Amino acid sequence: MNSAETTFALETDDRRAVHGTVRPLVRLRFAYADPPYFGLAAKFYGDMHPDAAAYDRLETHAALIRRLCDEWPDGWAMSLSAKSLRDILPLCPDDCRVGAWVKGFCSFKPSAKGAQYAWEPVIFRGGRPRDESHCVRDWLQESMTLKRGFRGAKPDRFVRWVLDLLNADPGDEITDLFHGSGAVTRAIEAWRAEGRLPLYQANAAPQTGAERA
Ligand SMILES: C[S@@+](CC[C@H](N)C(=O)[O-])C[C@H]1O[C@@H](n2cnc3c(N)ncnc32)[C@H](O)[C@@H]1O
Repeated sequence: MNSAETTFALETDDRRAVHGTVRPLVRLRFAYADPPYFGLAAKFYGDMHPDAAAYDRLETHAALIRRLCDEWPDGWAMSLSAKSLRDILPLCPDDCRVGAWVKGFCSFKPSAKGAQYAWEPVIFRGGRPRDESHCVRDWLQESMTLKRGFRGAKPDRFVRWVLDLLNADPGDEITDLFHGSGAVTRAIEAWRAEGRLPLYQANAAPQTGAERA
């Protein structure tokens, strides 16, 4: 046991003995990247950002993935279009995984010749090691956002699922690399505000009854 760990032994109401060790949670650093999608960057964001067209080139996505791996070794996640998965995934390290955001409701393109694109991949890497008690699916069903006045704004439940994929804790540092409408940062802040109490805070000396009153 190292000095930061605490052992405990309790007797429960039904007189069972419970004992164990509490380890302080390590603060990790994660990033979520939601760049303009390859092939759609100038079309969707050309009027918003002077360099949007750079994301229509694969080398820009390759540089972003290198940056994610270098600066966020604890873990990261990145959105992309289903159509660009075949181009972007080969730029990623082998230990990346792909999750699926399935859009129950989404806009159909009448001009589409084949099947409608109704899901988006999320490539993710690393994350806090999880024990078997905390399980998360590698897919989410959630409809696209409506009436946000911003193309590509991500829904709250999507953000929470991405945080779950990384097994993030509210005490972690989480960087939203492409702010856009601000929906992701707002969802992270809301999740933090209502979140689980990080163990390293819970480890502080307990309040007495008088202090709590
Ligand atoms: C997919 S949107 C992000 C949406 C955001 N996650 C949300 O939920 O609202 C991509 C954003 O990247 C911005 N952008 C475009 N080109 C960029 C560039 N070269 N560098 C940085 N950001 C860029 C766009 O203007 C847009 O705000």
